[in-house]
Amino acid sequence: MRKDFLPFSKPSVSEDAIADVCDSIRSGWLAMGPKTVDFEAKFAQYVGSKFAISVNSATAGLHLAVMALVEPGDEVITTPMTFASTLNAIIYSGAVPVLADIDPLTLNIDPKRLEEKITAKTKAVIPVHFAGRPCDMDAIEQIAKKHDIAIIEDSAHAMGSVYHGRKIGAGRGARHIAVFSFHPTKNMTTGEGGMITTDDEKAADRMSVQRQNGMDKGAWNRFGAKGKSHYDIFVPGLKYQMMDIQAAIGRDQLKYLDEFNKRRAQIVARYDEAFASVQGLTLPAAVEEDCTHSWHIYTPLIESSETGFTRDEFMEKMKQYNIGTAYHYQAVHLFSGYAKITGLKKGDMPVAEAIGEKIVSLPLFPAMTDQDVDDVIEAVQTVCK
Ligand SMILES: Cc1ncc(COP(=O)(O)O)c(C=O)c1O
Repeated sequence: MRKDFLPFSKPSVSEDAIADVCDSIRSGWLAMGPKTVDFEAKFAQYVGSKFAISVNSATAGLHLAVMALVEPGDEVITTPMTFASTLNAIIYSGAVPVLADIDPLTLNIDPKRLEEKITAKTKAVIPVHFAGRPCDMDAIEQIAKKHDIAIIEDSAHAMGSVYHGRKIGAGRGARHIAVFSFHPTKNMTTGEGGMITTDDEKAADRMSVQRQNGMDKGAWNRFGAKGKSHYDIFVPGLKYQMMDIQAAIGRDQLKYLDEFNKRRAQIVARYDEAFASVQGLTLPAAVEEDCTHSWHIYTPLIESSETGFTRDEFMEKMKQYNIGTAYHYQAVHLFSGYAKITGLKKGDMPVAEAIGEKIVSLPLFPAMTDQDVDDVIEAVQTVCK
């Protein structure tokens, strides 16, 4: 058994990034500034969007996106297989969250269930590319067009994912936005941080102003040698900017993203091969042709009727072998706060509820050595024997 604990996720930050962070600190310009602007340009180029707006988390980005496209009282449909942020962004915009159950194979929102939930009040859908597997965007875009609703892709897991030849986050016209997360467990990090991408100029203007208290100029444009200190407030905003300290890490991480994702895919291929013969594990489904999965997380299902133990017991057993695991997610409407708001109860989202009881995330990060991968495989094989 390995001596040290293997966490389920760990970021890889280069010495160049650390040096660039120090440079920001020494320069005296720590907050949003030239490095943030540079990171945004590089990010827009990477995904293929006209605009990239950096923020201090994907939670903030989702909030700005919902506020840009939705009015208080509107309904916004999303998936129950997501993190709290997706719902919080809807609720804090004064909109009403409506959930549509997931597809049992992809674990993404089921377009058929989504269309069933559309009412005259529906103004947007937030598909979540769960684990980095692209949602069925052709179907979702068709539904959105038919019912004239906006799309906000929660792409927190989908850095580098490709859907039918185009990157997740690539510009898709008006009322279509994508939001990424750079939390340290994600495929690339800035510590905390996020990025919004869109081709919608009106929404982009509003979101970039609203992320800095609604001011038409950031400190970056006011305090420099050529800056003017007067500013206007177009619209009440929030304090959601990214700092140059974060952007220094982010622009370096972006250079390595494809390499990181390649390593993630290699590890997944080894897991798939080793676990194919393990009874009681249902492995993630193969990705659709012409799509790339970014493998933010690797999430087999523990079939307790075959293993004789539950997912939680599996996690405890893995800990005894010094292997960390996590789980993403409990169906979100089962949290007490959301049960009240959505009016949903156990039994209302049967697919997501069943998956939420079985799903587990095994260690997956680019710095894992082949020995780390062997250790996970051995532990899983022993636990499930
Ligand atoms: C699906 C999803 N959406 C949104 C978020 C929020 O990201 P952040 O932590 O950057 O606010 C997360 C974070 O884990 C997530 O998994």
